[in-house]
Amino acid sequence: MAETVNATPTAVAKNTLLDVRNLKMYFPLTQGIIFQHVVGQVRAVDGISFSIERGKTLGLVGESGSGKTTIGRTLIRLYKPTEGEILFHDQDLSKLGGEDLRQLRRQIQMVFQDPYASLNPRFTIGSQIAEPMAIYKTGNSKQIRERTEELLSVVGLRPEFIDRYPHEFSGGQRQRIVVARALSINPELVIADEPVSALDVSIRAQVLNLLQRLQKQFNLTYLFVSHDLSVVRHVADRIAVMYLGKIVEIADRDELYKNPQHPYTRALLSAVPIPDPKIERQRKRIILSGDLPSPINIPKGCRFHTRCPMAQQICQEIEPAFEAKVGHEHFAACHFSDKVTTSM
Ligand SMILES: Nc1ncnc2c1ncn2[C@@H]1O[C@H](COP(=O)(O)OP(=O)(O)O)[C@@H](O)[C@H]1O
Ligand code: SF4
Ligand SMILES: [Mg+2]
Repeated sequence: MAETVNATPTAVAKNTLLDVRNLKMYFPLTQGIIFQHVVGQVRAVDGISFSIERGKTLGLVGESGSGKTTIGRTLIRLYKPTEGEILFHDQDLSKLGGEDLRQLRRQIQMVFQDPYASLNPRFTIGSQIAEPMAIYKTGNSKQIRERTEELLSVVGLRPEFIDRYPHEFSGGQRQRIVVARALSINPELVIADEPVSALDVSIRAQVLNLLQRLQKQFNLTYLFVSHDLSVVRHVADRIAVMYLGKIVEIADRDELYKNPQHPYTRALLSAVPIPDPKIERQRKRIILSGDLPSPINIPKGCRFHTRCPMAQQICQEIEPAFEAKVGHEHFAACHFSDKVTTSM
């Protein structure tokens, strides 16, 4: 019998660092040039719950436009959430403001997709790595410079590079610089938003290995965002699959790959190449019809029904509950998910 849950899919473990409950981030859709009025809402994040244990990695996957970046930006409070709770160290980040928010915020750092846009070409890399330390006044200028040199070597770059400018570095090296800056004030949680997607395929593994090494070295907790399930497989302990502003499935990594319950997860997995050529030849791709619907106009019932190969009448009318499936730690939102593995 499936067990229904409302807000939080997993019981909050003792070791939970971040616990997000029913998070919503809607953007107003306005019309008019001088007198703007709100004509609708972009429901970019539409009621999301997950938690991450200290020292672990949650992978967040979903196609472009599903709301992944908006989640990251909301967690670091670049946006004020429309609704929901962001519990971090037992404090609700969604409600905090002023100095309390500033102090808690330093423990969460975000690494963005594009290392070219993340660094200012007019400043040395040393001054950019040092910037958060200067903002939070973590030492005098000599201490900050020493720490910057140390950070460069931590991310595999030579400390002598400290006074160079971003254009002297490759994409992979720039992402290392961005990671050094993120680590400079000892965060506990790092949100890595497609950190290797803009990099050359040949150097992606190096940057992923670096992130994994740093996680162990500094006991970091990661929210690792990607549209690519094969990248997430390398780094995540647990994986959440997002579709049009909602998590449709969440499970431990191996469980998700072995036993996907949601038709959308199965479609994403079917697009991942398998290294063994014999099995790869038999791989059946599930091609989804149509594009991702707009978050301004989310389909009624199950939001995936317009593209789901298994959709039935009920899917157009009733939104499926997010329920525990095979195990207690495996949740999915589909009326027919228990039958998914045999009929697709
Ligand atoms: N500031 C914003 N104002 C209005 N709509 C936005 C804003 N930011 C993102 N969106 C919309 O929200 C949806 C999710 O975007 P995003 O979070 O960037 O998705 P992803 O990172 O998964 O590609 C998209 O439809 C995007 O156009
Ligand atoms: S509820 Fe229906 S439309 Fe939604 S994923 Fe399941 S079968 Fe597909
Ligand atoms: Mg994004």
